[in-house]
Amino acid sequence: MTIRNIFPLKRHKGSEQLPKVLERGWDFGEQEGEAAFMKDRTMLSKLSAPIFLGLPVLIASLIANQAISQTALPGQSPAPAQAAASGDTDRQAQIEKGKYLATAGDCIACHTRPGGELFAGGVSFTTDFGTIYSANITPSSATGIGKWTKDQFTRAMRHGISADGSYLYPAFPYTAYTKVSDEDIDAIYEYLRTLVPVDYTPPKNQMPFPFNQRLLMMIWNKMFLKEGVFKPNNSKSTDWNRGAYLVEGLGHCGACHTPRNLIGGEISDQALSGGAYQDNIIDAVHGSEIVTIDDLMVRKWATSNLTSSARGLGEWSTDEIAAYLKTGHNARAGAFGPMAEVIKYSTQYLTDEDVHAMAVYLKSLPPIQQEISRPVSAEKMKQGEIAYSARCVSCHQPTGLGTPPAPNADRAHISPPLVGNTVVQAQDPATLINVILYGAHEIVQKENAWPKMPGLELDFGLDDNKIALIASYVRNSWGNQGDAVDPKDVTKQR
Ligand code: HEC
Ligand code: HEC
Ligand code: HEC
Repeated sequence: MTIRNIFPLKRHKGSEQLPKVLERGWDFGEQEGEAAFMKDRTMLSKLSAPIFLGLPVLIASLIANQAISQTALPGQSPAPAQAAASGDTDRQAQIEKGKYLATAGDCIACHTRPGGELFAGGVSFTTDFGTIYSANITPSSATGIGKWTKDQFTRAMRHGISADGSYLYPAFPYTAYTKVSDEDIDAIYEYLRTLVPVDYTPPKNQMPFPFNQRLLMMIWNKMFLKEGVFKPNNSKSTDWNRGAYLVEGLGHCGACHTPRNLIGGEISDQALSGGAYQDNIIDAVHGSEIVTIDDLMVRKWATSNLTSSARGLGEWSTDEIAAYLKTGHNARAGAFGPMAEVIKYSTQYLTDEDVHAMAVYLKSLPPIQQEISRPVSAEKMKQGEIAYSARCVSCHQPTGLGTPPAPNADRAHISPPLVGNTVVQAQDPATLINVILYGAHEIVQKENAWPKMPGLELDFGLDDNKIALIASYVRNSWGNQGDAVDPKDVTKQR
């Protein structure tokens, strides 16, 4: 059997592939952090000395400062030194909060191109309507948002309108950010202003007429943008409300996990039931090696059903969801595709309380079931079982239960269960096919991460029909459910 070399391969160079800044400065507190932060911090530690002369003074100055920021009445100011000190504490706290919220919103992932400066934009997004590049959101006056007022920034986040009044494309998830509170948008704005300004102009969008007409988005917004800040539901718990706020707002989970109609609007009555979109296949697992793919291979990825459907998170516990968001894995799954990036740049940095709250909210979503319109024939199930037995069984077992990392387990075959798996049962099989073709490995490597799964494309070169049979088989065994996979679905993912 020959190894098929279908795309130019390069040995994985590990972290050299990633933008350096991302390697360095993004862990809160643990690592160097941006220069601006450190500067603020030193200033703060100098100024804080007089504050700690006495708790009463601190409290008084905090209260006084509150009064200033709320009413801004001259003449009510406390002694100048104290005002400056506590003002700085407040500002520092606001900026830290802004950084945290920007992380929850994953601004960095979409606004930092590989090898580029943090937040300077230029990341390309392939859509059905052309290629869009993200903007420079550093405080550069010439090429970024340095001249933007807070109101202009708020208008972009809430209504998808740029400072010059032009309409933005919803590749920027303002349809979700519209739910973010004033206070939180302010904090993000203040944080972004502390970044190092970078003069960089992203490439021009490549969109054919009529999609290059931004004014079209005015009509699109009328149809699909539901403006309005998140309103808490008083009959639900604090956790539920916090989780709903994060999932629906900054987390913009629906931007990927809600199916869209032909003109790109989220189908609201199927919210979070799993969609599909285009993203790179960054690398493949060949044997035990990770090989990067030189040319940008943009392919379809399907997203999981996050509702309580048996094909979604129905069987997951709140703790399992929280663990997945925090570490990239749990006993049921590991993040290997675009979700791994979400975890890498965003959810792993959220507090335990916040990921727990998101899990509480997700667990409360009533199941959205999808109809099976293409059942698999008994004959195809039989053929699929043979192929599964040859290629998958040594790790995922005949029962589909996988090989849990128990002390007596065969280390080489440790693998998650396919029973009840959300990737296996997703309405669209694209991600399942990607796993079979290119393998899977966790990008965030926290304790107890799953080992790598080798892809079949390179190791065995199975044809589209065999891969479709395996996929159809795992989607319809052990109680799993999913439409039959067509060999044509596999061809598209090569
Ligand atoms: C899913 C990808 C994605 C995420 C996440 C994202 N953005 Fe963007 N953003 C874009 C794209 C793409 C554009 C360009 C849209 C266009 O040109 O119409 C953009 C544009 C913007 C603009 C408009 C800039 C201008 O010059 O008009 C602002 C402001 C902005 N983003 C801020 C943010 C902030 C703040 C966050 C995090 C809370 C964020 N973005 C998260 C993709 C993203
Ligand atoms: C950029 C698109 C994108 C965004 C944004 C996104 N996801 Fe995902 N998600 C995916 C994809 C693709 C998968 C399939 C598995 C993978 O990529 O590793 C997935 C899978 C999942 C899974 C199932 C994992 C499994 O293997 O069974 C969960 C749970 C999940 N996402 C939760 C979330 C939550 C919560 C949010 C919001 C904070 C979110 N996702 C935002 C793309 C996205
Ligand atoms: C050498 C052992 C091994 C073999 C053989 C193997 N897998 Fe895997 N599989 C794994 C490991 C390990 C993971 C976890 C990878 C990760 O999360 O990064 C995995 C993950 C998966 C996932 C994603 C589960 C999730 O949600 O995280 C699917 C789907 C899958 N395998 C299907 C298959 C199919 C179908 C075959 C046969 C074509 C197969 N695997 C063969 C070890 C294996």
